[in-house]
Amino acid sequence: MSTTPLDLNNIQGDILVGIPKKTQTYFFFAIQDTTLFRTALLALIPFIKTAAQAQADQKSIADHKLKGLTTLIPMTGTQIAFSNAGLTKLGITGVATPGVADPNSDPFLEGQFKDSKNIGDAGTGPGRDFVPAWDPAFGNANIHGVIFIGGSDHLTVDAELAKTKLILGLSVKEVIQIRGDTRPKDQSGHEHFGFLDGISNPTIIGFNDKNAPPGPKPVDRSVLLTGQPSTSNPGPAPVLVDGSFLAFRYLFQLVPEFNQFLKQNPINGDSELLGARMVGRWKSGAPIDVTPTQDNPDIGKDPQRNNNFFYSGELAKGDQTRCPYSAHTRKTNPRADFTEHGLADQLNQRRIMRRGIQFGPEVTTEEANNNRSINGRGLLFVCYQSDLTKGFQFIQKTWANNPGFLNTAVDSNLKPIQPGLDSIIGQNADQARGVVGTDPANPDGSLTIPRFIVPQGGEYFFSPSISALKNVIAH
Ligand code: HEM
Repeated sequence: MSTTPLDLNNIQGDILVGIPKKTQTYFFFAIQDTTLFRTALLALIPFIKTAAQAQADQKSIADHKLKGLTTLIPMTGTQIAFSNAGLTKLGITGVATPGVADPNSDPFLEGQFKDSKNIGDAGTGPGRDFVPAWDPAFGNANIHGVIFIGGSDHLTVDAELAKTKLILGLSVKEVIQIRGDTRPKDQSGHEHFGFLDGISNPTIIGFNDKNAPPGPKPVDRSVLLTGQPSTSNPGPAPVLVDGSFLAFRYLFQLVPEFNQFLKQNPINGDSELLGARMVGRWKSGAPIDVTPTQDNPDIGKDPQRNNNFFYSGELAKGDQTRCPYSAHTRKTNPRADFTEHGLADQLNQRRIMRRGIQFGPEVTTEEANNNRSINGRGLLFVCYQSDLTKGFQFIQKTWANNPGFLNTAVDSNLKPIQPGLDSIIGQNADQARGVVGTDPANPDGSLTIPRFIVPQGGEYFFSPSISALKNVIAH
Protein backbone atom coordinates (compact mmCIF):
# COMPACT_ATOMS: atom_id res chain seq x y z
CA MET A 1 0.00 0.00 0.00
CA SER A 2 1.40 3.45 -0.94
CA THR A 3 1.56 6.06 1.81
CA THR A 4 3.37 8.94 0.05
CA PRO A 5 1.02 11.84 -0.79
CA LEU A 6 -0.62 11.63 -4.20
CA ASP A 7 0.88 14.04 -6.74
CA LEU A 8 -2.35 15.70 -7.83
CA ASN A 9 -0.45 17.96 -10.24
CA ASN A 10 0.80 14.91 -12.12
CA ILE A 11 -2.36 12.79 -12.46
CA GLN A 12 -4.91 13.59 -15.19
CA GLY A 13 -8.05 15.08 -13.68
CA ASP A 14 -10.64 12.56 -14.80
CA ILE A 15 -9.13 9.52 -13.08
CA LEU A 16 -9.51 10.23 -9.36
CA VAL A 17 -11.52 13.47 -9.34
CA GLY A 18 -13.66 13.65 -12.50
CA ILE A 19 -13.88 16.44 -15.06
CA PRO A 20 -17.12 18.37 -14.40
CA LYS A 21 -19.24 18.04 -17.51
CA LYS A 22 -22.63 18.74 -18.98
CA THR A 23 -21.24 17.82 -22.38
CA GLN A 24 -18.12 16.07 -23.60
CA THR A 25 -16.58 15.59 -27.03
CA TYR A 26 -14.38 12.61 -27.81
CA PHE A 27 -11.92 13.20 -30.64
CA PHE A 28 -10.45 9.84 -31.67
CA PHE A 29 -7.34 10.27 -33.81
CA ALA A 30 -4.64 8.47 -35.77
CA ILE A 31 -1.10 9.86 -35.65
CA GLN A 32 0.10 10.88 -39.12
CA ASP A 33 3.56 12.21 -38.33
CA THR A 34 5.31 11.26 -35.09
CA THR A 35 7.75 14.21 -35.07
CA LEU A 36 4.97 16.74 -35.63
CA PHE A 37 2.85 14.96 -33.05
CA ARG A 38 5.51 15.12 -30.31
CA THR A 39 5.90 18.86 -30.86
CA ALA A 40 2.13 19.37 -30.84
CA LEU A 41 1.80 17.28 -27.67
CA LEU A 42 4.34 19.47 -25.85
CA ALA A 43 2.21 22.50 -26.75
CA LEU A 44 -0.98 20.73 -25.65
CA ILE A 45 0.25 19.49 -22.25
CA PRO A 46 -0.31 22.83 -20.42
CA PHE A 47 -4.01 22.59 -21.36
CA ILE A 48 -4.48 19.09 -19.95
CA LYS A 49 -6.42 19.33 -16.73
CA THR A 50 -4.74 17.79 -13.68
CA ALA A 51 -6.44 16.26 -10.65
CA ALA A 52 -5.60 19.39 -8.63
CA GLN A 53 -7.23 21.63 -11.25
CA ALA A 54 -10.29 19.38 -11.53
CA GLN A 55 -10.66 19.61 -7.74
CA ALA A 56 -10.54 23.41 -7.98
CA ASP A 57 -13.21 23.34 -10.73
CA GLN A 58 -15.45 21.08 -8.61
CA LYS A 59 -15.01 23.43 -5.67
CA SER A 60 -15.97 26.52 -7.65
CA ILE A 61 -19.12 24.75 -8.91
CA ALA A 62 -20.01 23.72 -5.33
CA ASP A 63 -19.40 27.28 -4.02
CA HIS A 64 -21.52 28.70 -6.85
CA LYS A 65 -24.41 26.37 -5.93
CA LEU A 66 -24.03 27.22 -2.23
CA LYS A 67 -24.65 30.86 -3.17
CA GLY A 68 -27.94 29.68 -4.69
CA LEU A 69 -26.74 30.38 -8.25
CA THR A 70 -28.09 28.09 -10.96
CA THR A 71 -26.16 29.47 -13.94
CA LEU A 72 -23.33 27.39 -15.41
CA ILE A 73 -19.76 28.56 -14.90
CA PRO A 74 -18.12 28.33 -18.34
CA MET A 75 -15.34 25.74 -18.04
CA THR A 76 -13.66 22.89 -19.88
CA GLY A 77 -11.29 20.05 -19.05
CA THR A 78 -9.11 18.39 -21.70
CA GLN A 79 -7.73 14.85 -21.25
CA ILE A 80 -5.62 12.59 -23.46
CA ALA A 81 -5.08 8.83 -23.66
CA PHE A 82 -3.32 6.45 -26.07
CA SER A 83 -4.09 2.99 -27.41
CA ASN A 84 -1.35 0.40 -27.74
CA ALA A 85 -1.35 1.10 -31.50
CA GLY A 86 -0.64 4.77 -30.71
CA LEU A 87 2.14 4.07 -28.21
CA THR A 88 3.69 1.57 -30.64
CA LYS A 89 3.62 4.17 -33.41
CA LEU A 90 5.45 6.55 -31.05
CA GLY A 91 7.98 3.87 -30.14
CA ILE A 92 6.91 3.75 -26.49
CA THR A 93 7.33 0.38 -24.78
CA GLY A 94 6.62 -0.83 -21.27
CA VAL A 95 2.88 -0.14 -21.04
CA ALA A 96 1.27 -3.55 -20.59
CA THR A 97 -0.75 -5.53 -18.09
CA PRO A 98 1.53 -6.72 -15.29
CA GLY A 99 1.89 -10.49 -15.08
CA VAL A 100 0.28 -11.34 -18.44
CA ALA A 101 2.98 -13.30 -20.25
CA ASP A 102 1.26 -13.80 -23.65
CA PRO A 103 0.70 -10.46 -25.50
CA ASN A 104 -2.33 -12.07 -27.21
CA SER A 105 -3.97 -12.34 -23.79
CA ASP A 106 -3.21 -8.76 -22.76
CA PRO A 107 -6.34 -6.72 -23.53
CA PHE A 108 -4.33 -3.50 -23.77
CA LEU A 109 -1.68 -4.92 -26.12
CA GLU A 110 -4.13 -6.70 -28.41
CA GLY A 111 -6.71 -3.89 -28.35
CA GLN A 112 -10.46 -4.06 -27.81
CA PHE A 113 -11.27 -5.11 -31.39
CA LYS A 114 -9.40 -8.38 -30.80
CA ASP A 115 -10.87 -8.68 -27.30
CA SER A 116 -14.46 -8.09 -28.44
CA LYS A 117 -15.38 -11.76 -28.84
CA ASN A 118 -13.96 -12.50 -25.41
CA ILE A 119 -16.21 -9.87 -23.81
CA GLY A 120 -19.31 -11.19 -25.57
CA ASP A 121 -19.87 -8.69 -28.39
CA ALA A 122 -21.81 -9.94 -31.42
CA GLY A 123 -19.93 -10.36 -34.70
CA THR A 124 -18.84 -12.83 -37.36
CA GLY A 125 -15.85 -15.01 -38.16
CA PRO A 126 -13.90 -17.68 -36.30
CA GLY A 127 -11.34 -17.38 -33.49
CA ARG A 128 -8.86 -14.56 -33.90
CA ASP A 129 -10.42 -13.59 -37.27
CA PHE A 130 -13.60 -12.54 -35.46
CA VAL A 131 -14.98 -9.18 -36.64
CA PRO A 132 -17.32 -7.46 -34.18
CA ALA A 133 -20.50 -5.86 -35.51
CA TRP A 134 -19.19 -2.38 -34.73
CA ASP A 135 -18.97 1.04 -36.32
CA PRO A 136 -16.05 0.59 -38.77
CA ALA A 137 -14.25 3.59 -37.24
CA PHE A 138 -13.35 1.30 -34.34
CA GLY A 139 -11.59 -1.19 -36.67
CA ASN A 140 -8.57 -3.14 -35.48
CA ALA A 141 -5.83 -0.74 -34.25
CA ASN A 142 -7.44 2.14 -36.22
CA ILE A 143 -7.35 4.53 -33.32
CA HIS A 144 -4.07 5.74 -31.82
CA GLY A 145 -5.46 8.01 -29.16
CA VAL A 146 -8.34 10.05 -27.86
CA ILE A 147 -8.55 13.63 -26.69
CA PHE A 148 -11.74 14.24 -24.77
CA ILE A 149 -12.97 17.60 -23.63
CA GLY A 150 -15.68 17.90 -21.03
CA GLY A 151 -17.27 21.14 -19.99
CA SER A 152 -20.19 23.37 -19.16
CA ASP A 153 -21.72 23.94 -22.62
CA HIS A 154 -21.26 23.30 -26.33
CA LEU A 155 -19.89 26.74 -27.19
CA THR A 156 -17.10 26.59 -24.61
CA VAL A 157 -16.18 22.98 -25.39
CA ASP A 158 -16.29 23.58 -29.17
CA ALA A 159 -13.92 26.56 -28.79
CA GLU A 160 -11.50 24.42 -26.73
CA LEU A 161 -11.68 21.65 -29.32
CA ALA A 162 -10.99 24.12 -32.16
CA LYS A 163 -7.92 25.38 -30.26
CA THR A 164 -6.76 21.78 -29.67
CA LYS A 165 -7.15 20.90 -33.35
CA LEU A 166 -5.15 23.98 -34.30
CA ILE A 167 -2.34 22.83 -32.00
CA LEU A 168 -2.45 19.30 -33.45
CA GLY A 169 -2.41 20.58 -37.04
CA LEU A 170 -1.48 17.90 -39.54
CA SER A 171 0.15 15.67 -36.91
CA VAL A 172 -3.06 13.61 -36.60
CA LYS A 173 -6.15 12.81 -38.60
CA GLU A 174 -9.60 12.44 -37.13
CA VAL A 175 -10.94 8.87 -37.05
CA ILE A 176 -14.29 9.66 -35.43
CA GLN A 177 -15.65 12.41 -33.22
CA ILE A 178 -18.50 11.65 -30.79
CA ARG A 179 -20.34 14.07 -28.56
CA GLY A 180 -21.93 13.09 -25.27
CA ASP A 181 -24.48 15.16 -23.38
CA THR A 182 -26.07 14.76 -19.99
CA ARG A 183 -29.84 14.42 -20.25
CA PRO A 184 -32.10 17.47 -19.78
CA LYS A 185 -33.70 18.85 -16.61
CA ASP A 186 -34.69 16.31 -13.94
CA GLN A 187 -33.11 13.50 -15.98
CA SER A 188 -29.66 15.06 -15.65
CA GLY A 189 -27.40 12.41 -14.08
CA HIS A 190 -29.74 9.63 -15.23
CA GLU A 191 -28.72 7.25 -18.02
CA HIS A 192 -31.11 6.74 -20.95
CA PHE A 193 -33.16 3.91 -19.39
CA GLY A 194 -33.98 6.49 -16.70
CA PHE A 195 -31.83 5.34 -13.73
CA LEU A 196 -29.66 7.70 -11.72
CA ASP A 197 -26.04 6.77 -12.52
CA GLY A 198 -22.59 7.59 -11.20
CA ILE A 199 -23.47 6.94 -7.55
CA SER A 200 -21.14 4.12 -6.56
CA ASN A 201 -17.51 4.84 -7.40
CA PRO A 202 -14.60 3.75 -5.20
CA THR A 203 -13.17 6.09 -2.57
CA ILE A 204 -9.41 6.04 -2.17
CA ILE A 205 -7.47 5.53 1.04
CA GLY A 206 -5.63 8.68 2.05
CA PHE A 207 -7.30 10.77 -0.65
CA ASN A 208 -11.05 11.09 -0.19
CA ASP A 209 -11.93 8.42 2.37
CA LYS A 210 -12.03 10.70 5.43
CA ASN A 211 -15.46 12.29 4.95
CA ALA A 212 -16.75 9.78 2.43
CA PRO A 213 -20.45 8.87 2.74
CA PRO A 214 -21.14 5.33 4.03
CA GLY A 215 -20.66 2.58 1.46
CA PRO A 216 -18.13 0.01 0.26
CA LYS A 217 -14.67 0.17 1.89
CA PRO A 218 -12.14 2.56 0.32
CA VAL A 219 -9.49 1.02 -1.91
CA ASP A 220 -5.76 1.50 -2.29
CA ARG A 221 -4.76 3.98 -5.02
CA SER A 222 -2.93 1.15 -6.83
CA VAL A 223 -6.33 -0.28 -7.82
CA LEU A 224 -6.78 2.74 -10.07
CA LEU A 225 -3.30 4.11 -10.73
CA THR A 226 -0.47 2.27 -12.45
CA GLY A 227 3.18 2.49 -11.39
CA GLN A 228 2.59 3.03 -7.69
CA PRO A 229 5.79 2.22 -5.78
CA SER A 230 5.47 -0.83 -3.54
CA THR A 231 7.88 -2.99 -1.61
CA SER A 232 7.94 -5.49 -4.48
CA ASN A 233 8.44 -2.72 -7.09
CA PRO A 234 10.16 0.32 -5.54
CA GLY A 235 11.10 1.92 -8.89
CA PRO A 236 8.30 1.55 -11.44
CA ALA A 237 8.94 2.68 -15.03
CA PRO A 238 8.41 6.48 -15.38
CA VAL A 239 5.84 5.99 -18.17
CA LEU A 240 3.61 4.02 -15.79
CA VAL A 241 3.82 6.25 -12.69
CA ASP A 242 0.47 7.96 -11.96
CA GLY A 243 -1.19 6.64 -15.11
CA SER A 244 -4.35 4.56 -15.52
CA PHE A 245 -5.90 2.24 -18.10
CA LEU A 246 -9.08 3.62 -19.62
CA ALA A 247 -11.71 1.29 -21.10
CA PHE A 248 -13.99 3.06 -23.59
CA ARG A 249 -17.21 1.46 -24.84
CA TYR A 250 -19.61 2.92 -27.41
CA LEU A 251 -22.85 1.43 -26.04
CA PHE A 252 -26.18 2.05 -27.78
CA GLN A 253 -29.29 1.58 -25.64
CA LEU A 254 -32.64 0.47 -27.10
CA VAL A 255 -34.76 2.61 -24.81
CA PRO A 256 -38.29 2.30 -26.29
CA GLU A 257 -37.74 -1.48 -26.58
CA PHE A 258 -36.57 -1.63 -22.94
CA ASN A 259 -39.63 0.34 -21.82
CA GLN A 260 -41.95 -1.96 -23.78
CA PHE A 261 -40.36 -5.03 -22.20
CA LEU A 262 -40.92 -3.61 -18.71
CA LYS A 263 -44.57 -2.85 -19.59
CA GLN A 264 -45.11 -6.36 -20.92
CA ASN A 265 -43.49 -8.10 -17.92
CA PRO A 266 -44.65 -6.29 -14.80
CA ILE A 267 -43.98 -7.91 -11.44
CA ASN A 268 -47.25 -8.09 -9.58
CA GLY A 269 -48.57 -5.33 -11.87
CA ASP A 270 -45.51 -3.12 -11.32
CA SER A 271 -43.26 -2.48 -14.36
CA GLU A 272 -41.00 -0.12 -12.41
CA LEU A 273 -40.24 -2.96 -9.99
CA LEU A 274 -38.95 -5.16 -12.82
CA GLY A 275 -36.65 -2.34 -13.97
CA ALA A 276 -35.41 -1.79 -10.42
CA ARG A 277 -34.71 -5.51 -9.98
CA MET A 278 -32.77 -5.60 -13.25
CA VAL A 279 -30.59 -2.66 -12.19
CA GLY A 280 -30.44 -3.12 -8.39
CA ARG A 281 -31.66 0.44 -7.87
CA TRP A 282 -34.86 2.34 -8.54
CA LYS A 283 -34.81 5.12 -11.13
CA SER A 284 -34.24 7.64 -8.33
CA GLY A 285 -31.04 5.79 -7.36
CA ALA A 286 -32.54 4.27 -4.18
CA PRO A 287 -31.03 0.77 -3.72
CA ILE A 288 -33.59 -2.07 -3.77
CA ASP A 289 -31.60 -3.78 -1.02
CA VAL A 290 -32.66 -0.86 1.20
CA THR A 291 -36.16 -0.29 -0.18
CA PRO A 292 -37.19 -3.46 -1.99
CA THR A 293 -40.87 -2.91 -2.82
CA GLN A 294 -41.19 0.75 -3.73
CA ASP A 295 -39.04 3.66 -4.81
CA ASN A 296 -37.99 6.22 -2.23
CA PRO A 297 -36.55 9.30 -4.01
CA ASP A 298 -35.41 10.81 -0.67
CA ILE A 299 -33.04 7.86 -0.22
CA GLY A 300 -32.05 8.03 -3.90
CA LYS A 301 -30.72 11.57 -3.62
CA ASP A 302 -29.20 11.27 -0.14
CA PRO A 303 -25.47 10.39 -0.31
CA GLN A 304 -25.64 9.29 3.34
CA ARG A 305 -28.13 6.56 2.41
CA ASN A 306 -27.92 5.81 -1.31
CA ASN A 307 -24.76 3.69 -1.21
CA ASN A 308 -25.02 2.24 2.27
CA PHE A 309 -26.07 -1.32 1.48
CA PHE A 310 -24.30 -4.64 1.23
CA TYR A 311 -26.86 -7.33 0.28
CA SER A 312 -26.11 -8.67 3.76
CA GLY A 313 -29.74 -9.55 4.55
CA GLU A 314 -29.76 -11.96 1.60
CA LEU A 315 -26.85 -14.09 2.68
CA ALA A 316 -28.58 -16.11 5.38
CA LYS A 317 -31.76 -16.70 3.37
CA GLY A 318 -30.32 -16.78 -0.12
CA ASP A 319 -33.70 -16.31 -1.75
CA GLN A 320 -33.04 -13.13 -3.77
CA THR A 321 -36.12 -11.51 -2.25
CA ARG A 322 -34.54 -8.11 -1.86
CA CYS A 323 -32.14 -8.09 -4.81
CA PRO A 324 -31.57 -10.67 -7.56
CA TYR A 325 -28.01 -11.94 -7.95
CA SER A 326 -28.42 -10.99 -11.64
CA ALA A 327 -29.14 -7.30 -10.90
CA HIS A 328 -26.55 -5.07 -12.60
CA THR A 329 -25.21 -3.52 -9.39
CA ARG A 330 -24.92 -6.86 -7.58
CA LYS A 331 -23.16 -8.56 -10.52
CA THR A 332 -20.67 -5.72 -10.96
CA ASN A 333 -19.96 -5.13 -7.26
CA PRO A 334 -21.15 -8.06 -5.15
CA ARG A 335 -20.31 -6.32 -1.84
CA ALA A 336 -21.04 -8.65 1.14
CA ASP A 337 -21.39 -11.64 -1.20
CA PHE A 338 -17.59 -11.36 -1.28
CA THR A 339 -16.64 -9.70 1.97
CA GLU A 340 -18.71 -12.17 4.02
CA HIS A 341 -16.96 -15.04 2.28
CA GLY A 342 -13.48 -13.76 3.15
CA LEU A 343 -12.90 -12.29 -0.32
CA ALA A 344 -12.69 -8.58 0.58
CA ASP A 345 -9.22 -8.19 -1.00
CA GLN A 346 -10.39 -9.72 -4.26
CA LEU A 347 -13.43 -7.45 -4.33
CA ASN A 348 -11.29 -4.34 -3.82
CA GLN A 349 -9.04 -5.33 -6.74
CA ARG A 350 -12.11 -5.28 -9.02
CA ARG A 351 -13.30 -1.74 -8.36
CA ILE A 352 -13.36 0.65 -11.32
CA MET A 353 -13.84 4.43 -11.55
CA ARG A 354 -16.74 5.09 -13.95
CA ARG A 355 -16.80 8.41 -15.82
CA GLY A 356 -19.18 7.96 -18.75
CA ILE A 357 -21.68 10.35 -20.29
CA GLN A 358 -24.92 9.85 -22.23
CA PHE A 359 -25.17 10.48 -25.96
CA GLY A 360 -28.04 10.94 -28.38
CA PRO A 361 -31.44 12.62 -28.20
CA GLU A 362 -34.37 11.93 -25.90
CA VAL A 363 -36.91 9.34 -27.08
CA THR A 364 -39.33 10.96 -29.56
CA THR A 365 -43.10 10.49 -29.46
CA GLU A 366 -42.87 8.45 -32.65
CA GLU A 367 -40.25 6.11 -31.12
CA ALA A 368 -42.26 5.77 -27.91
CA ASN A 369 -45.50 5.06 -29.80
CA ASN A 370 -43.90 2.39 -31.99
CA ASN A 371 -41.69 0.92 -29.24
CA ARG A 372 -38.78 1.15 -31.69
CA SER A 373 -35.53 3.09 -31.63
CA ILE A 374 -35.01 5.28 -34.69
CA ASN A 375 -32.29 7.55 -33.28
CA GLY A 376 -29.03 6.30 -31.80
CA ARG A 377 -28.63 6.95 -28.07
CA GLY A 378 -26.80 5.39 -25.19
CA LEU A 379 -23.74 5.59 -22.98
CA LEU A 380 -20.18 6.59 -23.80
CA PHE A 381 -18.90 4.24 -21.11
CA VAL A 382 -15.51 5.12 -19.62
CA CYS A 383 -13.83 3.49 -16.67
CA TYR A 384 -10.36 3.63 -15.15
CA GLN A 385 -8.34 0.88 -13.49
CA SER A 386 -4.70 -0.07 -13.02
CA ASP A 387 -5.23 -3.48 -14.64
CA LEU A 388 -7.85 -4.22 -17.32
CA THR A 389 -7.77 -7.94 -16.57
CA LYS A 390 -8.88 -7.18 -13.01
CA GLY A 391 -11.20 -4.27 -13.81
CA PHE A 392 -13.40 -3.76 -16.89
CA GLN A 393 -12.50 -6.92 -18.80
CA PHE A 394 -12.92 -9.11 -15.73
CA ILE A 395 -16.22 -7.55 -14.65
CA GLN A 396 -17.74 -7.81 -18.14
CA LYS A 397 -16.45 -11.29 -18.97
CA THR A 398 -16.17 -13.21 -15.73
CA TRP A 399 -19.05 -11.65 -13.83
CA ALA A 400 -21.64 -9.98 -16.11
CA ASN A 401 -21.47 -12.50 -19.00
CA ASN A 402 -21.15 -15.55 -16.79
CA PRO A 403 -24.48 -17.20 -15.86
CA GLY A 404 -22.68 -19.15 -13.11
CA PHE A 405 -21.55 -16.03 -11.22
CA LEU A 406 -22.00 -15.59 -8.20
CA ASN A 407 -20.78 -19.11 -7.64
CA THR A 408 -21.92 -18.88 -4.02
CA ALA A 409 -25.53 -18.17 -5.14
CA VAL A 410 -28.17 -20.46 -3.66
CA ASP A 411 -31.90 -20.89 -4.14
CA SER A 412 -34.65 -20.70 -1.54
CA ASN A 413 -33.70 -24.22 -0.36
CA LEU A 414 -30.07 -23.11 -0.04
CA LYS A 415 -29.14 -25.29 -3.05
CA PRO A 416 -26.51 -23.81 -5.45
CA ILE A 417 -28.01 -22.06 -8.48
CA GLN A 418 -26.92 -20.33 -11.67
CA PRO A 419 -28.05 -16.70 -11.30
CA GLY A 420 -27.93 -15.99 -15.08
CA LEU A 421 -26.42 -13.01 -16.88
CA ASP A 422 -26.25 -9.42 -15.65
CA SER A 423 -29.77 -8.21 -16.55
CA ILE A 424 -28.46 -4.98 -18.07
CA ILE A 425 -25.00 -5.57 -19.58
CA GLY A 426 -24.64 -9.37 -19.62
CA GLN A 427 -24.08 -10.65 -23.16
CA ASN A 428 -22.89 -13.71 -25.03
CA ALA A 429 -22.81 -12.83 -28.72
CA ASP A 430 -26.42 -12.99 -29.91
CA GLN A 431 -27.56 -15.68 -27.52
CA ALA A 432 -30.70 -15.28 -25.42
CA ARG A 433 -30.09 -13.69 -22.03
CA GLY A 434 -31.50 -15.78 -19.22
CA VAL A 435 -31.65 -14.36 -15.70
CA VAL A 436 -32.98 -15.78 -12.46
CA GLY A 437 -34.79 -14.17 -9.55
CA THR A 438 -36.42 -11.07 -11.01
CA ASP A 439 -39.76 -11.92 -9.35
CA PRO A 440 -39.49 -11.81 -5.53
CA ALA A 441 -42.59 -14.01 -5.25
CA ASN A 442 -40.86 -16.64 -7.37
CA PRO A 443 -37.21 -16.10 -6.52
CA ASP A 444 -36.04 -19.27 -8.28
CA GLY A 445 -37.93 -18.48 -11.51
CA SER A 446 -36.15 -17.37 -14.67
CA LEU A 447 -36.83 -14.76 -17.33
CA THR A 448 -35.40 -14.30 -20.82
CA ILE A 449 -34.44 -10.69 -21.41
CA PRO A 450 -33.69 -9.43 -24.94
CA ARG A 451 -30.51 -7.42 -25.51
CA PHE A 452 -31.16 -3.75 -24.93
CA ILE A 453 -27.51 -2.71 -25.14
CA VAL A 454 -25.74 -2.87 -28.46
CA PRO A 455 -21.96 -2.28 -28.38
CA GLN A 456 -20.87 -0.37 -31.48
CA GLY A 457 -17.19 0.04 -30.73
CA GLY A 458 -14.59 0.70 -28.11
CA GLU A 459 -10.90 0.67 -27.36
CA TYR A 460 -8.52 0.26 -24.45
CA PHE A 461 -6.36 3.30 -23.75
CA PHE A 462 -3.62 4.34 -21.36
CA SER A 463 -4.03 7.69 -19.67
CA PRO A 464 -0.48 8.84 -18.81
CA SER A 465 0.61 11.27 -16.11
CA ILE A 466 1.68 14.80 -17.03
CA SER A 467 5.34 13.89 -16.40
CA ALA A 468 5.06 10.77 -18.60
CA LEU A 469 3.51 12.88 -21.37
CA LYS A 470 6.34 15.43 -21.12
CA ASN A 471 9.36 13.27 -20.41
CA VAL A 472 8.55 10.02 -22.16
CA ILE A 473 5.82 10.35 -24.78
CA ALA A 474 6.56 13.82 -26.21
CA HIS A 475 10.30 13.33 -25.75
C1 HEM B 1 -23.67 0.92 -11.61
C2 HEM B 1 -26.25 1.61 -15.67
C3 HEM B 1 -22.64 -0.31 -18.29
C4 HEM B 1 -20.25 -1.36 -14.22
C5 HEM B 1 -24.67 1.30 -12.50
C6 HEM B 1 -25.91 1.94 -12.12
C7 HEM B 1 -26.62 2.15 -13.26
C8 HEM B 1 -25.85 1.61 -14.35
C9 HEM B 1 -28.00 2.80 -13.37
C10 HEM B 1 -26.33 2.31 -10.70
C11 HEM B 1 -25.84 3.65 -10.28
C12 HEM B 1 -24.51 3.63 -9.54
O1 HEM B 1 -24.33 2.85 -8.60
O2 HEM B 1 -23.66 4.42 -9.92
C13 HEM B 1 -25.49 1.13 -16.73
C14 HEM B 1 -25.91 1.16 -18.11
C15 HEM B 1 -24.89 0.63 -18.85
C16 HEM B 1 -23.84 0.26 -17.92
C17 HEM B 1 -27.26 1.66 -18.60
C18 HEM B 1 -24.77 0.45 -20.32
C19 HEM B 1 -25.36 1.22 -21.21
C20 HEM B 1 -21.71 -0.80 -17.41
C21 HEM B 1 -20.52 -1.53 -17.80
C22 HEM B 1 -19.86 -1.85 -16.64
C23 HEM B 1 -20.62 -1.29 -15.54
C24 HEM B 1 -20.11 -1.85 -19.23
C25 HEM B 1 -18.58 -2.62 -16.46
C26 HEM B 1 -18.29 -3.71 -17.15
C27 HEM B 1 -20.95 -0.79 -13.18
C28 HEM B 1 -20.48 -0.78 -11.81
C29 HEM B 1 -21.46 -0.12 -11.06
C30 HEM B 1 -22.52 0.25 -11.99
C31 HEM B 1 -19.15 -1.34 -11.29
C32 HEM B 1 -21.44 0.16 -9.55
C33 HEM B 1 -21.97 -1.02 -8.78
C34 HEM B 1 -21.93 -0.75 -7.28
O3 HEM B 1 -20.86 -0.38 -6.79
O4 HEM B 1 -22.96 -0.91 -6.63
N1 HEM B 1 -24.66 1.11 -13.86
N2 HEM B 1 -24.24 0.57 -16.65
N3 HEM B 1 -21.74 -0.68 -16.04
N4 HEM B 1 -22.17 -0.16 -13.26
FE1 HEM B 1 -23.23 0.16 -14.94
